[in-house]
Amino acid sequence: MNLHLTHIKLAILSISMMIFTCKTSSTNSLHPVILIPGSGGNQLEARLTAEYKSSSLLCNRWYPLKKDPDGWFRLWFDPTVLFKPFTKCFNKRMMIYYDPDVDDYHNAPGVETRVPSFGSTQGLLYLNPNLKSITSYMEPLVRSLEEVGYVSGSNLFGAPYDFRYGLAAEGHPSIVGSKFLSDLKNLIESASNSSGGRPVILLSHSLGGLFVLQLLDRNPTSWRHKYIKHFIALSAPWGGTVEEMRTFASGNAFGVPLVDPLLVREEQRSCATNLWLMPSPKVFDRTKPLVITRNGSYSSSDIAQFLQDIGFPEGVRPYKMRVLPLVQSLPSPQVPVTCVFGSGVRTPETLFYGDSGFEKRPEVVYGDGDGTVNMVSLMALESAWDGRENQSLKVIKIPGVSHTSILKDGTALGRIIGEVSGINYEISTSLLRWV
Ligand SMILES: *[C@@H]1O[C@H](CO)[C@@H](O)[C@H](O)[C@H]1NC(C)=O
Ligand SMILES: *[C@@H]1O[C@H](CO)[C@@H](O)[C@H](O)[C@H]1NC(C)=O
Ligand SMILES: *[C@@H]1O[C@H](CO)[C@@H](O)[C@H](O)[C@H]1NC(C)=O
Repeated sequence: MNLHLTHIKLAILSISMMIFTCKTSSTNSLHPVILIPGSGGNQLEARLTAEYKSSSLLCNRWYPLKKDPDGWFRLWFDPTVLFKPFTKCFNKRMMIYYDPDVDDYHNAPGVETRVPSFGSTQGLLYLNPNLKSITSYMEPLVRSLEEVGYVSGSNLFGAPYDFRYGLAAEGHPSIVGSKFLSDLKNLIESASNSSGGRPVILLSHSLGGLFVLQLLDRNPTSWRHKYIKHFIALSAPWGGTVEEMRTFASGNAFGVPLVDPLLVREEQRSCATNLWLMPSPKVFDRTKPLVITRNGSYSSSDIAQFLQDIGFPEGVRPYKMRVLPLVQSLPSPQVPVTCVFGSGVRTPETLFYGDSGFEKRPEVVYGDGDGTVNMVSLMALESAWDGRENQSLKVIKIPGVSHTSILKDGTALGRIIGEVSGINYEISTSLLRWV
């Protein structure tokens, strides 16, 4: 019956295939892609100065032995962190400190840090290039982009950053995080300028998405329209995670059996970005208990009290002043956004702490999500932007794919690359939609 229509469909399909194949042969016509990794998703380097005081003989300035001539060594990821005496050294060097007088964070005394290879994909392919197989991060995604014509350094770039430092609400300094946003802004402009003025596709994973949303919000609409073609956010925890409350209460060894979670807790509590990822009252129902103890319960609107009660009062002030006002809004950037994330993976939703307090691992009730981020947080833009003018939002859910396997899983990579190709060949997709 619909043969006629089918013919038209086929004809248009072949036209669009032609457009598709013509375009793939020419790299110049692709929109540049910039990758923004998640927390812990790129390498960090450190150097110890004379000011550095070691806490033990093992952690003295000689450790690690292998450093470059200027004293730089890899701080993240370094496999010695997995062995107890060195976990402590790592913590001391990795921790950051909030200074109430200047209202900002700084490194441990005597520890300088830097992010290698800004602009390049090199720093985020593997967390440690000497341990490629076990520390592969964005390598499969980069390879998949290269298969459809992207070339690292030419139209494919990476924006690694110091993921311990976050951003703060307006009026509060965040020197390290703001410097990253301005470096990223320059990278976007130079990528676009060197691609004949084509606007770029921003492709983030996890925490990277929160930085991108802030970058867009902090620049004028005219700038966004000139430089941003599309923003694709993978596994973005828009409203934080319940998992983060467990990290603050009892530490999180990320499933590495050798690591005692309480040993890494101090360092994890110190990270400004971890505070940023506490469940936000904008996204998590304020009346739903997330943590339950014999003494009472905590919802997303009780995070400050929770920090106090777990024995981390230092976190209360930066949380209330810097984080809470920042997470109160999910600004719509008026550039097209696609969220891609996994679903149907058991994700901590309620934590029960017994009589032994917050040091012991909690009983966990699981709910829907990607294993790390709760569904309500992954989906937060949909409800926040509902009915917003000039805001296109597409949501791609991939059942059974976890928070990080989204960067490796064949089906997930196929969907991500499909999305990037669709954006590059918009003519063909709009023709298909018209049919
Ligand atoms: C990109 O080009 C614009 C002019 O179109 C210029 O204002 C801007 O400074 C350039 N940015 C970079 C990072 O080269
Ligand atoms: C409950 O409150 C008591 C008394 O204030 C305190 O000692 C205990 O640590 C609390 N337990 C939990 C799990 O919060
Ligand atoms: C939507 O875009 C149009 C045209 O660019 C603009 O006039 C209008 O103010 C925008 N609406 C909002 C809510 O920003």
